[in-house]
Amino acid sequence: MKIKAFAKVNLFLEITSKRKDGYHNLKSIFARISLADEIEIKRNNCNEIRLLTINKANFTPIPNKDNLVWKAADAFCREFSIKPAFDIKVVKNIPAGAGLGGGSSDCASTLRAMAGILGLNLRDKKIERKLFSIAAQLGSDVPFFLSNNSMGICSLRGEKIKPIHPLCPMPWILVLWPDVFVSTAEVYKIFKLADPKDIRKNLIRLKEFEKNISQKKAFDFTPFLFNRLESGAFLVSPEVEKMKNFLNSHKGISALMSGSGSAVFALSYDRALLLSLKRKIPSLHKFVFLAKFI
Ligand code: C5P
Repeated sequence: MKIKAFAKVNLFLEITSKRKDGYHNLKSIFARISLADEIEIKRNNCNEIRLLTINKANFTPIPNKDNLVWKAADAFCREFSIKPAFDIKVVKNIPAGAGLGGGSSDCASTLRAMAGILGLNLRDKKIERKLFSIAAQLGSDVPFFLSNNSMGICSLRGEKIKPIHPLCPMPWILVLWPDVFVSTAEVYKIFKLADPKDIRKNLIRLKEFEKNISQKKAFDFTPFLFNRLESGAFLVSPEVEKMKNFLNSHKGISALMSGSGSAVFALSYDRALLLSLKRKIPSLHKFVFLAKFI
């Protein structure tokens, strides 16, 4: 079974409150893009889950048993009471620790692929509930990828998804990863929660953003792009802010950080403009990828 695991960017991300369990409630637009990892899963005769990761994205390797793919496969075998006898190969094209959801997407795709190998009906409500429960335990972003929506507004910890069906022409997207690792937990620890009045204003903006995306007309994304976690990530790594400012200094480009960083992205309807920008970015220690929303 071969399956792709697409990356995401967050076009909007506001944190609405801190929870008693240490997590934060958020409202965020998740949008899938054409950058993807590839996952291949086969049964084996070894009674163990063997994971091979091929790194094409210049990222720091994660020990196998801490890898979300391994954890997803292990949790799946326990939940459905099957032998943990699988070989999994992951080709990583999405940088890890970049806010692009690579690990979460790999995790969700592993759950979908294993369900496919077992011939489970993903539309069966009981199976769907079981898979979503595993997904939510493994990470806040995993349920979005499992839902297989191209775009959605995620709320609570990230696990509640309202699908958006974009009808507007979508811009091209240039993804830039400055090759620095930013810890999600650290960014959540140091960002500043806004006052309730500002949060309310921002959520009104989110509604307008959603309405524009759902209509057939092209519109300027610039005034709607927002990420509350930027301030925290910029403190952890000034390089991220430098990259965002570099992108924004070009006319006709709107830039934003994705998730908790460290990747930033630039949007434009002008593909040639993004390609010329791509050529300006030195290749050493910088990951740059021209993608589309899918
Ligand atoms: O769920 P995930 O493993 O991706 O979260 C990593 C860390 O990010 C959590 O341990 C938590 O500190 C923080 N986080 C948060 N609120 C969220 C998502 C993540 O505080 N909604």
